[in-house]
Amino acid sequence: EQGYEYRRFEKNVTPIKKLPDALIIGVKKCGTRALLEFLRLHPDVRAAGSEVHFFDKYYHMGFEWYREKMPPTLEGQITMEKTPSYWVTKSAPKRVYAMNPAVKLIAVVRDPVTRAISDYTQSASKRPGLPPFEEFALLNSSIQWGGTYSVDASWPPVRLGIYARPYRRWLRRFPKSRLLLVNGERLVADPAAEMVRVQDFLGLKRIITDKHFYFNSTKGFPCLLKSETKPIPHCLGKTKGRNHPRINQSVIDRLKEFYKPHNQKFYQLSGVNFSWP
Ligand code: A3P
Repeated sequence: EQGYEYRRFEKNVTPIKKLPDALIIGVKKCGTRALLEFLRLHPDVRAAGSEVHFFDKYYHMGFEWYREKMPPTLEGQITMEKTPSYWVTKSAPKRVYAMNPAVKLIAVVRDPVTRAISDYTQSASKRPGLPPFEEFALLNSSIQWGGTYSVDASWPPVRLGIYARPYRRWLRRFPKSRLLLVNGERLVADPAAEMVRVQDFLGLKRIITDKHFYFNSTKGFPCLLKSETKPIPHCLGKTKGRNHPRINQSVIDRLKEFYKPHNQKFYQLSGVNFSWP
């Protein structure tokens, strides 16, 4: 009897590394870092800090390697990881299913036009002198933008905004109820409200509330009053919430038009009307 009690006690206090119970699978530049940092405010969530890239790059390393990358957890805590490239990795749904068919999946999505500009802005920050967005977004755009020029759907910043295709691929393995779509615009406009949905989905107590956030008008984004690692108000790093370059309006309009049928398809599949402009 005593031995049993002791073991039970020990089980509760010895943290162990587990494979993830939930994954943030995408989408790149939609607010995946913000979501993960917000989730880490929850005492029952433990998450790997950096992107592990197991299901796309390191699958050959095996599940034991993956488990080792996870933070130690106590009983009752959930283990998480975020790697946005899983969203578009063709083999990822099957591999994730092989790890745990009951895993919970989260994808953040936002207006694909803004997402494309965000994606480009990230590349441009690493490569000074990169030609303007407009030159990549439209085919044969060197003379004049807009008008009849067609969108270059093969350019990754544009392609990644077509959400319906990868979404359908995930739904072939997982029921819709197991893949939560987080509204990237709402995550900025009302993070506490969006976090209620996320906590409910993960079966967590509603601990993350509006008391955790304040709007930093200099940054233009919600920031945290405190977190486990920092007891003072702080925002996400400089690489999150960058200033975007001004993009030619006719190119924006052309992109909106391009995405319209893809967005409709995505709304139809998901049953959610995101009302992207
Ligand atoms: P921008 O930097 O282009 O504005 P990801 O983490 O998936 O790469 O997404 C980055 C995007 O998260 C940012 O793109 C920003 O718009 C968005 N974001 C959402 N909430 C944020 C927050 N609280 N602070 C900073 N960026 C946030």
